[in-house]
Amino acid sequence: MPATELDQIVNLCKRRGFVYPSAEIYGGFRSTYDYGPLGALMLRNVKEAWLRAMVQLRDDVVLIDASILGPPPVYEASGHLANFTDPLVDCTNCKQRFRQDQLDDPDLCPSCGKRGTFTDPRNFNLMFKTFAGPVEGAGAEVYLRPETAQGMFLNFANVLNTTRKKPPFGIAQVGKSFRNEITPGNFVFRTREFEQMEMEFFVPPADADRWYEFWCAERLNWYRALGIPDAMLRLRAHDADELSHYSRGTSDVEFAYPWGWGELEGIANRGDFDLTQHANHSGEKLDYFDQATNERYRPYVIEPAAGATRAMMAFLLAAYDEDVINDEPRTVLRLHPRLAPYKVAVLPLSKKDTLTPLARQVYATLADRYLVDYDETQAIGRRYRRQDEVGTPLCVTVDFDSLDDGAVTIRERDSTQQQRVPIADLLNAIGDKLGF
Ligand code: GAP
Repeated sequence: MPATELDQIVNLCKRRGFVYPSAEIYGGFRSTYDYGPLGALMLRNVKEAWLRAMVQLRDDVVLIDASILGPPPVYEASGHLANFTDPLVDCTNCKQRFRQDQLDDPDLCPSCGKRGTFTDPRNFNLMFKTFAGPVEGAGAEVYLRPETAQGMFLNFANVLNTTRKKPPFGIAQVGKSFRNEITPGNFVFRTREFEQMEMEFFVPPADADRWYEFWCAERLNWYRALGIPDAMLRLRAHDADELSHYSRGTSDVEFAYPWGWGELEGIANRGDFDLTQHANHSGEKLDYFDQATNERYRPYVIEPAAGATRAMMAFLLAAYDEDVINDEPRTVLRLHPRLAPYKVAVLPLSKKDTLTPLARQVYATLADRYLVDYDETQAIGRRYRRQDEVGTPLCVTVDFDSLDDGAVTIRERDSTQQQRVPIADLLNAIGDKLGF
């Protein structure tokens, strides 16, 4: 059964080196996290699974990596300076701050329980501002990007001019975004620094509705294919009053978090809002001339926008399980093999010198293709449990018989079943079991 409490995942992440509170030795830096040895691998796997689906398996999407710092004109044009705000209220009694639109009762402070103590709402801009160069002040301001999307719009003409792509085609990007959230929280669900995986798909305006439906279905299926059960996923269309300033229609892929349904990814029809704004503000022609029809038009954009860090948390919550094996309780992460930090663990049955050379050789063979852990400490049963708890799909045990028969044992995380395999066939056997 998936995790029912957020703490099940938070504790496991800390205990096993997935996610640590940032700057912990200084008492922590609120709602900021560092990804440890296993978390860094898993986060990379989430991003690679996204890139595989969105870029590698599609000949109509290209990848870019744009800058994080941007000058004010970009965000004037994009509308973020004027519109990327949340309504902030302060409680004059307990001095706590809240997003007014997230309060159950707009007049009741959820912290101290007093009524009528809120200040009037102020629009608080979520962008982080800093200064470029040695002099702080007017003219030196720059912004940390609040979404990766603007990099794709700014490079629309560059990509058209340097590739042979034409609508329908997409520009994808994976990277950090920054938002000065008023109420960060729920572990890595909402943080001020996070990673996004976004794709802007440029289409002829007449085809926008069809592509919007396509990408909604496609994105929902991506989470399913990577192991999130149907019962924990749903697609929800935004009401008109929820739409972002650029959107003609948005649907969220929602996930059943321990606290209820919430956003995992948004798929938006941004129309021609962004290209028109940047064309008007920059004076550049941001449109497409179709030589086949002799028509010039400004494409519409369908945008699947996912959070890599938020998706990692959802995959962890969905994969978490507790069961009993040989009368012993175990915690197991039933992660899809593509997401698991390590694909295989090589476990010599004993630390004795006689086994080490062969075990090291098996490790080297597997490590050439997969990320592999090597562990020779503790009893074998405890080592299996440790690998189960971090989601390693397969363990390979090298024992004393291996020295004679040239074979090893593969043990599967989910079923705990074991199979003896000649070392000469090991790579093929592992590939068959993992599916890649
Ligand atoms: N370009 C459109 C855009 O940025 P969004 O719905 O604001 O849309 C897309 O963000 C995704 O980025 C969200 O669905 C979520 O997964 C992730 N995300 C947004 N804000 C976040 C935050 N403060 N912390 C973690 N992830 C966040």
